[in-house]
Amino acid sequence: MGRKIAVVSGKGGVGKTTITFGLGLSLAKMGKSVCLIDLDIGLNNLDMLFGAQDKIMFDLADCIDGKCRIKQALVRHEKQENLYVLSSSKSDVFTEISELKLNLLLSKLASVFDFVLIDCPAGINRNVYLGLKSSNEALLVVTPHIASISDADKVLSVIKGFDLNFSGVIVNRVRGDMLAKGESLSHKQIAYLLKSEVVGVLPESDQINVQSGNLEYKSINKDEILLAFDMLATNIESGRKQIFDCQKQYRGFLGMIRRNIKRSV
Ligand SMILES: Nc1ncnc2c1ncn2[C@@H]1O[C@H](COP(=O)(O)OP(=O)(O)O)[C@@H](O)[C@H]1O
Ligand SMILES: [Mg+2]
Repeated sequence: MGRKIAVVSGKGGVGKTTITFGLGLSLAKMGKSVCLIDLDIGLNNLDMLFGAQDKIMFDLADCIDGKCRIKQALVRHEKQENLYVLSSSKSDVFTEISELKLNLLLSKLASVFDFVLIDCPAGINRNVYLGLKSSNEALLVVTPHIASISDADKVLSVIKGFDLNFSGVIVNRVRGDMLAKGESLSHKQIAYLLKSEVVGVLPESDQINVQSGNLEYKSINKDEILLAFDMLATNIESGRKQIFDCQKQYRGFLGMIRRNIKRSV
């Protein structure tokens, strides 16, 4: 049976969709079969990041309503053949998804895929509840800002009420230059504040902004964000505890120059 992992957060815009896609891509590159589900109905954009928006014939609601077979709604990644997405629709924002049917759908997917990653909406609402209820694990995404961590703490207490494993916290959009100057919270401080393990750290990356909406898979292959995603995927897959070093390029004499350039641009 595959692992069903809900990706949740307190604040919106902290990177859940980006992480669902990036983590899925890295797991798929490791040879795992991966299905991504967009449960952020209405504000869905996983299909866009995936590059699937023009290929969608059926969506999550169609699957749940029995209007199509699951495999008719799955879109395969153009380059990574073991990576699929099941999109949701902007127009289904007011449709109530049946808990039982979603549970059944995700269980069927988990019997076929090694990983089912569920991109949830932000905060605490019915679809987050559904996502957590239908998963066996949860990942909590934060950025190194107090407001994000404070909201994440509230979601964490909700997660604890569910019968699932909490897989840990992912700290996204970490600025190595600010960390090096002591101007940003470190992942250790965040782990302390949330009394939880940090399973991955992802740097702030200019590439993601440039690529979003039109992800050129090959062109970002060497970007440090991909290395960080690979590290995160290895941790999730094998339980290892390696943390991407966002400060590396900002240490030493050259690092000081980079820090100052970064500050002035
Ligand atoms: N590590 C990162 N570096 C730079 N931009 C990022 C990073 N992670 C996410 N973003 C950007 O932040 C915005 C929100 O990300 P998204 O994944 O949609 O958040 P959420 O799903 O939590 O609402 C997007 O424009 C995305 O490109
Ligand atoms: Mg999102």
